[in-house]
Amino acid sequence: MMHPIRSAMRWSLLLLTIMPMFCRASDPHAIDEKVQALLTQMSLEEKVGQLTQYSATWKADGTAPITEEMRDAIEHGLVGAMLNVLGTRDTRQYQELALHARLKIPLLFGLDVIHGYKTTFPIPLAEAASWDLDGIERSARIAATEAAASGIQWTFAPMVDIARDPRWGRVMEGAGEDTLLASRIAYARVRGFQGAGLGETDALMACAKHFAAYGAAVGGRDYNSVDMSERMLWETYLPPFKAAVDAGVATLMNSFNDLNGIPATGNRYLLREVLKGQWNFDGFVVSDWHSIAEMVNHGFAADERDAARLAMTAGNDMDMASGVYRKYLGDLVATGRVPLRLVDEAVGRILRKKFELGLFDDPYRFDDPRREQATLNDPEHGRAARKIAANSIVLLKNSPHVLPLSRSLKTIAFIGPMVKANKDNLGGWSVTVPGVDYSQFVVSQWDALRNKLGDGTRLVYARGCDFVGEDRSGFAEAVDAARQAELVIMSVGEQWTMSGEARSRSNIHLPGVQEDLIKAVQATGKPVVVLINAGRPLIFNWTADNVAAILYTWFLGSEAGNAIADVLVGDVNPSAKLPITFPRSEGQIPLYYNHFNTGRPDVPTAPDRFVSAYIDLESSPRYAFGFGLSYTTFDYSGLSLSGKIMRAGEPITLNLDVRNTGPIAGDEVVQLYSHQLAASVVRPVMELRDFRKVHLEPGQIAHIAFTVDREMLAFYNARLQRVAEPGDIELMVGSSSADIHLRTHISLEE
Ligand code: NOJ
Repeated sequence: MMHPIRSAMRWSLLLLTIMPMFCRASDPHAIDEKVQALLTQMSLEEKVGQLTQYSATWKADGTAPITEEMRDAIEHGLVGAMLNVLGTRDTRQYQELALHARLKIPLLFGLDVIHGYKTTFPIPLAEAASWDLDGIERSARIAATEAAASGIQWTFAPMVDIARDPRWGRVMEGAGEDTLLASRIAYARVRGFQGAGLGETDALMACAKHFAAYGAAVGGRDYNSVDMSERMLWETYLPPFKAAVDAGVATLMNSFNDLNGIPATGNRYLLREVLKGQWNFDGFVVSDWHSIAEMVNHGFAADERDAARLAMTAGNDMDMASGVYRKYLGDLVATGRVPLRLVDEAVGRILRKKFELGLFDDPYRFDDPRREQATLNDPEHGRAARKIAANSIVLLKNSPHVLPLSRSLKTIAFIGPMVKANKDNLGGWSVTVPGVDYSQFVVSQWDALRNKLGDGTRLVYARGCDFVGEDRSGFAEAVDAARQAELVIMSVGEQWTMSGEARSRSNIHLPGVQEDLIKAVQATGKPVVVLINAGRPLIFNWTADNVAAILYTWFLGSEAGNAIADVLVGDVNPSAKLPITFPRSEGQIPLYYNHFNTGRPDVPTAPDRFVSAYIDLESSPRYAFGFGLSYTTFDYSGLSLSGKIMRAGEPITLNLDVRNTGPIAGDEVVQLYSHQLAASVVRPVMELRDFRKVHLEPGQIAHIAFTVDREMLAFYNARLQRVAEPGDIELMVGSSSADIHLRTHISLEE
């Protein structure tokens, strides 16, 4: 006869196997029951295993062979998730090992799918410049579709950190400096990654990161400390995370920095009180890479054992890469230092997601090589990437009749280190897919423009110089190429390795001798169009003052070349707007549009020199937040309000007309800002409140209506209460934060 306990276990295992047939992944109640049933069967060691994530070590060919140690741990159910294993072949191998374990709990496979998987989309900062929420959602959707077809269920994206410091290398990964724009983009990206919902084979779990305030690292130096008021935290840095939670984000990652003296990884207030408490977040939190153990370096944990205790107590569910949960958590529970219920809660959160993903129904459901092949080669993905890339290009300057390129040009010189570059177009955090030869599918700017122009225009090439270094030996050839041409296009900027994690720069001028190359070419007297490729705002004052036209092309991904060619010839009319302020000098940083006025603002009407300014530098930015030109022009008029006084429960509608006054169709991003003149805490000089991106044919008028309500105007007072205070509010509508075309006032009543 079978032992009664064994028999009960058999039954529960059988139930676990058949229950998925009776409940959909989306039935939270049924999933909770299954999670609880499974928890009762797990040993403490197996529970800790679920809280442990390891990374595979990549080989040069992109594969991730399994080490003996890893094999042993997985086969004994001591690993919950892997990162950096990709492709159906490799993920399947790992999953097979997990199913050797006693309870057969499937592994999760996570990867940094930041801006595409095989099809690489523009870096997130560039995409943010499109202000095209549908396009951004679509790019995340496609990235998810490709990654999920390659065995991945979890992306460590979106990064939703507000960043006001372009020296910070990770500014490229986020949506820039503005809280409203970044929150909407966070929402769109989560929706895109998670698609119709976990349980679909083309959905990835998203991971909003880095919780929290990582973008405010002092001096723009990566991993550095953050010390900020709670009001600033709540008003500026937390809302994009809240937007991600509202969008249903499955996971959050904490951050490397300490925040007001407490490392984010061990920050009970952030994780338990705010995220899991006030926001009722039901997913799980993963640490950043090794960040639990790093609490020892911070001087917050006495040793690694203490770090494991602090992270678990604070509410960090999964340990990425440091291994300290695996080493110490079992003992910490056994000795009563960590309550078992905290471990159970964390394991429950992770198991719930595994059930929702359908991994218990079929652990190999993401491992279909045929689907992988078909999905990775879907031509529709490239078309979508080309569209969003073109929509991310910002036209910073255009002298009359320079862009779009005239079709009658017979010879164009195409000069610069980026012209024939390949992988640099992808930018940092692009995925290396095993077996993919990037030179075959990244369209270089040279190839794309040559294809676009055809035989009618001769294209002359010179590299001129490298991205970095002092070598000017290629200048003469570049000048010679320019002399042969009627117009010169120069493609310069950063190498892809200059932005991203641990790639902060103290000097963000165009690197190397590239600006000198531009000067030498400009001296030929030929009209010069400059393309600037970068993962952050760069400083290029001489270029901005002197050349004929500038397109800021960031890093646009696999279709960079085609997208740039589309904009150069006018097949696409540029419509992007800067999601971050461009300074004139590093000395101005941090420089952002929504600053306070101070008691002595630096305005033209200032009575004397005792103002908040530098004596050796203008206060204004080189390019303002929200700025970007078009090949057409727009006129703003007809502002009207449904009322001047906002009473409780009565929103005001602001109407206006935008007309395309130029000769070609174009898109305009119409931006609504507000400023409360006096309040119990000082308010920024302006804050983005809403925007619309509209497409207008020549002569066409868009009638735009913005709804202004109390929630939109609310802020955190000194006691951290979110309030809409009575007072006079200026409303401004413009084409950038520095180009306000219409202004009016309303009064907010008690
Ligand atoms: C460290 C980075 O900070 C984080 O954003 C990333 O997801 C992990 N490494 C995993 O690669």
